[in-house]
Amino acid sequence: MDRRQFLGAGLAMVGAGCGVRMTEPTGLPAPAALTGDRVVPLAAVRRLVVERADPVLGRCRYLADLGTRQVPQPILVARRGERFDAAIENALPQPTTVHFHGLTMPEAQDGAGFDPIAPGAQKHVRFEARNRSGLYWFHPHPHGFTAEQIYAGLTGLLVVTDDDDDAVDAALVLTPGNRLALAVADARVAGGLIRPYEPSVDECLHGWYGNRALVNGALDAHLVVKSGWVRLQILNVCNARGLLLAFRDGENLVPFHLLGVDGGLLGSARELDRVFLHTAERVDIAINVTGRREVVATSLEFDPRHHTQGTAPPHHHPARERYPPLAGAGICERTSSADPADQLADGATLPLFALRVQGGNGRAVPPPARLSALADAASEPGTPTRRMRLDFDERVGFLIDQTPYRFDEIAFTVNRGTREVWEIKNSPISMPHPMHLHGFGFRVLRRQGTYGPVRRLAMESGARLPTDVGVKDTVVLWPNETVWLEVDFALPEDAAFRGRQRYMFHCHNLEHEDGMMMRNFAVA
Ligand code: C2O
Ligand code: CU
Ligand code: CU
Repeated sequence: MDRRQFLGAGLAMVGAGCGVRMTEPTGLPAPAALTGDRVVPLAAVRRLVVERADPVLGRCRYLADLGTRQVPQPILVARRGERFDAAIENALPQPTTVHFHGLTMPEAQDGAGFDPIAPGAQKHVRFEARNRSGLYWFHPHPHGFTAEQIYAGLTGLLVVTDDDDDAVDAALVLTPGNRLALAVADARVAGGLIRPYEPSVDECLHGWYGNRALVNGALDAHLVVKSGWVRLQILNVCNARGLLLAFRDGENLVPFHLLGVDGGLLGSARELDRVFLHTAERVDIAINVTGRREVVATSLEFDPRHHTQGTAPPHHHPARERYPPLAGAGICERTSSADPADQLADGATLPLFALRVQGGNGRAVPPPARLSALADAASEPGTPTRRMRLDFDERVGFLIDQTPYRFDEIAFTVNRGTREVWEIKNSPISMPHPMHLHGFGFRVLRRQGTYGPVRRLAMESGARLPTDVGVKDTVVLWPNETVWLEVDFALPEDAAFRGRQRYMFHCHNLEHEDGMMMRNFAVA
């Protein structure tokens, strides 16, 4: 991706706060904040093609066909309530699906892997983006191929806007170009090329770690912004790496305001100088760059807590035997570790991207105090508790409740419209597991057993982290930690949600996900 395309990835304010709306050719009102060649209204997509752009290195991309033009690696933007109605075409040599991570979806449109799209086939998908404003995303979810396909570049962003979101932009007086939606991945780069996905047996257990950051597909990303506030919606789309996100100006850390997380804005902003962002999690951040020339987003060093003993044998995915890898490399076959020069350990310092400040008047407005009407989470007395354990089994790997994923299994059934508290305990012999729930946002109630350095960042009641006070769909559990979540299993009244709906709960470390750390459950 060249520099111009990269800048096009930014979303800028267009007429927010003064009632001006851009009109899109479809006739639908476009979201208030957008610029750039890659920004596409969700409702304008006619076809979404999933293709392999480079058969040698196995790089893949999404191509949005709008009828009038085609946009590679689109950033979709939707006003809350807008619809998607498009054919998804699989031009890969492997089965795929498109899962819209974080959205409330009926099973039939969830793309969770129950009905993968075969190579050369297509599926028509229709849904409404009914969630609060926030950064959502879409990615492949065919069991056994998910890690390889996401690493190959199949990640799309979906920015949902609403009135609360408009109010934040207006309060920050954002100038065009000062709002960005960024997917941060790590890639294994050697000789200037991104190496194909080729994890060893050990990497299939611990995760596939890269040595360089890719931001919206670009290495060494530099984003030009103007002085004043910059609003960044950031997704961690590394296969396995956790990020401890901070912003450096030379030796100093630049404080920022946490505005929101996975499922939208917090009730009020939190001022921080670092924030953990594990795979699939998102943060919405405002940072004031007035008076600075360059601010470098970095993942700070931390103890990654990989507390496992021994190894586990590779997983057997029958489907993988029928389809070739994307770039002729073996997966979970090599027994030796990869060239250590090509990989950087989890928790190591990693520069992510730079904000270059050029021009602007940098009006010094305070950050907004109230962001949304979201109240802090509190479970009602009598809410039933469901308990789960995350374990390590030397014969299989990491598991939920000692049970490897089975496509046709339903671990449990939840009554539609009820609330549950989920008590999830990670074993001491473990790793951090970013656990993700399909279909429902949840609230974090409490943490226990968090290790010291993370515990020191817990400034909220119940030993919670600042990111725990919003609506989440993915939450990390450190080894030995117990987390209590509250989930509201209400489903829309809509016909599409009638009958039993199957969803998934899984680890979003992609090697763990393909490695069986996943369960199906049903809501009925
Ligand atoms: Cu981001 Cu089950 O998915
Ligand atoms: Cu999901
Ligand atoms: Cu995991």
